[in-house]
Amino acid sequence: MTTDAVFDSPAVPGVPLPAFVQTLLWAGWPMEFLERAQERYGDVFHIHTLLFGKEVVLAHPEDVKEVFTGDPDQLRAGEANQPLEPLVGPRSVLLLDGPEHLRQRRLLLPPFHGERMLKYAAVMRETTAEDLARWPRGAVFSLHPHMQRVTLDIILRTIFGAEDPRDLTDLRAALSKVLDRLGSAFSTIATIPPLRFHLGGFSPWAIFQREMAAADKLVYARIAKRRAEGPREDVLSLLLSATDEEGKPLTDPELRDELMTLLVAGHETTATMLCWAFDLILSHPAVRDRLVEEVTGAEDPQRLPYLDAVLKEVLRMRPVIPAVGRRLSAPLTLRGRHYPTGTLLVPSSYLVHHNPEVYPDPKVFRPERFLDRKSDPYTFFPFGGGVRRCLGMAFAQFEMKVVLAEVFGRVKLKKARPGPAKVTVRVFTFAPEKGVEVVLEG
Ligand code: HEM
Repeated sequence: MTTDAVFDSPAVPGVPLPAFVQTLLWAGWPMEFLERAQERYGDVFHIHTLLFGKEVVLAHPEDVKEVFTGDPDQLRAGEANQPLEPLVGPRSVLLLDGPEHLRQRRLLLPPFHGERMLKYAAVMRETTAEDLARWPRGAVFSLHPHMQRVTLDIILRTIFGAEDPRDLTDLRAALSKVLDRLGSAFSTIATIPPLRFHLGGFSPWAIFQREMAAADKLVYARIAKRRAEGPREDVLSLLLSATDEEGKPLTDPELRDELMTLLVAGHETTATMLCWAFDLILSHPAVRDRLVEEVTGAEDPQRLPYLDAVLKEVLRMRPVIPAVGRRLSAPLTLRGRHYPTGTLLVPSSYLVHHNPEVYPDPKVFRPERFLDRKSDPYTFFPFGGGVRRCLGMAFAQFEMKVVLAEVFGRVKLKKARPGPAKVTVRVFTFAPEKGVEVVLEG
């Protein structure tokens, strides 16, 4: 069977609209698009968008389990992540598969172990408090740019090890320029392979490359500085001293690609997830009040059961990456359906997280459901799964708890408009429209 045959097969029904129309629906009404398709076709269906091509969406926990526990050489996430190559570089852990992926992942894992996070807690708290001091009083403002700055500064300080305010300013300016492109239609256009031409340096692709080169220069300078100054507590120091089984360290181009990967994978995701947390918490006064009571005066946000449950419920309802991709390098059969080599399978956390058999009243924001429930990796996977599960999962959860505890413990916030925000798509993520507009009270 060819890849196209799967899309014509009655065993895998799909949305029969032209790719262009499906792309518009995906961009404008992402939740509704997925939900309507699931209602009509069930837990397995295919869609076709201009961004990702043809893909088979999986919303059945058994399929998810098979994919996450299957052979990673056959279910290739690196191939599925190729659209990120211009930003993260060809040696990024995100883009590799097979033994090369495992080698990079082993080198990157130690700095992200749970207990290491404690070393970053003070920086996370300070960065949040510094930004909080700049929030306007009595006027409507959007939380998104603030969350972007907080999460960017936390990465620059804890991962890149930028302590010096000048280093921080330069890196922030160069990297946020490149990262902002990621969130705009510009970047999508600039990085589509057929549109990568120069036009005498004025094309979107040429501008993107120029900005990337400026950012790269600073990243390489950071690596050289850290080598010269010797190790500190940051992730870069640990990566500089890490070696694989053959005793080989990461090369400078590998380090550059991994630093960019951590930035790209960890910055906008965490900023957007925090916006969703504020959006949902502030739209539910009883949850907000209980949370405020728990965090006020608490020493350690990592030991607060209600905050933990609230964060899980936010991750369930609004997984910023609503689906993860695996491209097949060999045919695979899942629950009696055959998929040929080349098929892109995408387990959807968004759809599984809204399965009423697993989560009764799935559209209701109810953190209590996580208070006495252990989450299962095939029905709760906002960070993906298997050997590709998010490397920054512990870091991101730790950081979000610190930020939420800091904000709710210090100020009173109110949403500018009642009700949860509409979901929109920012390239690869589900994001709240208008970045959650709020007002500081009192
Ligand atoms: C709320 C914040 C975050 C969310 C929702 C998130 C989600 C994800 C998801 C869904 C994947 C794909 C997993 C798969 O294919 O199965 C992923 C991969 C990854 N994430 Fe995160 N992420 C977050 C924050 C972070 C942070 C803070 C970092 C690092 C500082 C990070 C680093 C990575 C890396 C390196 C990968 C690639 C792992 C691999 O391919 O082996 N992420 N993340």
